[in-house]
Amino acid sequence: MADWTDVAATDDVPEDDVIGVQAAGKDLALYSVEGEFYATDNICTHGHARLCDGFLEGAEIECPLHQGRFDVRSGKAMCAPLTEDIKTYPLKVEGGRIWLQLA
Ligand code: FES
Repeated sequence: MADWTDVAATDDVPEDDVIGVQAAGKDLALYSVEGEFYATDNICTHGHARLCDGFLEGAEIECPLHQGRFDVRSGKAMCAPLTEDIKTYPLKVEGGRIWLQLA
């Protein structure tokens, strides 16, 4: 059975922007891209930088430290210096809240 965790209100995530949230001991990034929401780990796979401090352009988040870019929909690492994709989480919107499957 899927276990869903309420992590934020949809209103908490500004349109076409990113925020950081903590849930279940995880540091997570939530994105709003053209009215859709996505969730990934917040800590870059390359170094200790928080993606919520980065710059979201379309569906790509640019890491603030060395400008690596991930596609937030798939978690795919798009360019150097990244070599590892970032983990994404299944997400649903219900009752104005954002729910993630964190397990
Ligand atoms: Fe993110 Fe280096 S820490 S690209």
